[in-house]
Amino acid sequence: MRKQIAAANWKMNLSLAEAESLTKEIIKSEISVSSDQLVLLAVPFPYLEKVQILTAGNPAFAVAAQNCAATKNGAYTGEVSAQMLMGMSIPYVLIGHSERREYFHEDHNILTSKVDLALESNLNIIFCCGEPLFIREAGNQNSYVEAQLKESLFHLSEPAMKNVIIAYEPIWAIGTGKTASSEQAQEIHAHIRHVISKQYGETVAQSISILYGGSVKASNAAEIFSKPDVDGGLVGGASLVATEFTGIINSLKR
Ligand code: 13P
Repeated sequence: MRKQIAAANWKMNLSLAEAESLTKEIIKSEISVSSDQLVLLAVPFPYLEKVQILTAGNPAFAVAAQNCAATKNGAYTGEVSAQMLMGMSIPYVLIGHSERREYFHEDHNILTSKVDLALESNLNIIFCCGEPLFIREAGNQNSYVEAQLKESLFHLSEPAMKNVIIAYEPIWAIGTGKTASSEQAQEIHAHIRHVISKQYGETVAQSISILYGGSVKASNAAEIFSKPDVDGGLVGGASLVATEFTGIINSLKR
C-alpha cells in the first residue's frame, strides 16, 4: 500500500523562531495520521536540525531538504551535498522543483546527477515535474511530464526507483491560487503511473506515491486527494499556516 503524504515546502520563508513555532503548532494540533500516511516538512537548510529535533520520536513526521548539490563534494561554495544530508540523517530531499529548474537553470543533466547522488546517499527523493501554461493550453502536458520523468529518472534500477516519490506540480498552479481541477490532476497522475508501469511494471507503479502540488489549501485538498491516483500533496503557501496545513493533513485519504 503506497503512502498518502502531506508535504510542506516552506521554500525560502520564515524566521527560525517562526519555523519553530509553526512546527510546534502542527505537532500539537488535532491531526490524525495513520501508519500508511506521512507528513513531510521540506524546510530551509539552516532549519533542518531544529525541525528534526522538534519532530523526533513522532513517526508521522519526517524532515526533507529542498535541494542538494549535483556534485559529490569539493570546491562548490554555498552548495550542500547529499552526503551531508545523509550525515545529518535527513531522509528526504526535493529534486527538480520548477523554481530550481527556472531560476537556477537546472536542466535534466543536473537533475539526473542530483537524483543519482541522493540515492547513493540513501536519501528518498521527491521528484518534481509539471508543465508551464503554454504546454497545458496546447494539450501537451502528458508528453511533457513523461519526458521529464524519462530524462531524469528512468535510468534508475527498479530497487532505486522504489525510493522515489513523484510530485506533479503544474507551473501555472504554483502560487497563483489557480488549482488544477481534481479531474485534471487525476488524469495526469494516472498517466504518470501508466508511464512508470510501462518502464518498471505495475507493482512498482502501484507502490509509488504521486503528490499533487499547486495552490493546495485546506478547502480544496480533500477533493483533490479523493482521486485514486492522487496520493496527497506538496504544499507551498498554505503550509506556512498551521491551521491550513493541518487541515490538509486531515484531508489525506484513509
Ligand atoms: P503553492 O502551494 O504556494 O502553490 O506552491 C506549490 C509548490 O510549489 C510546492 O512545492
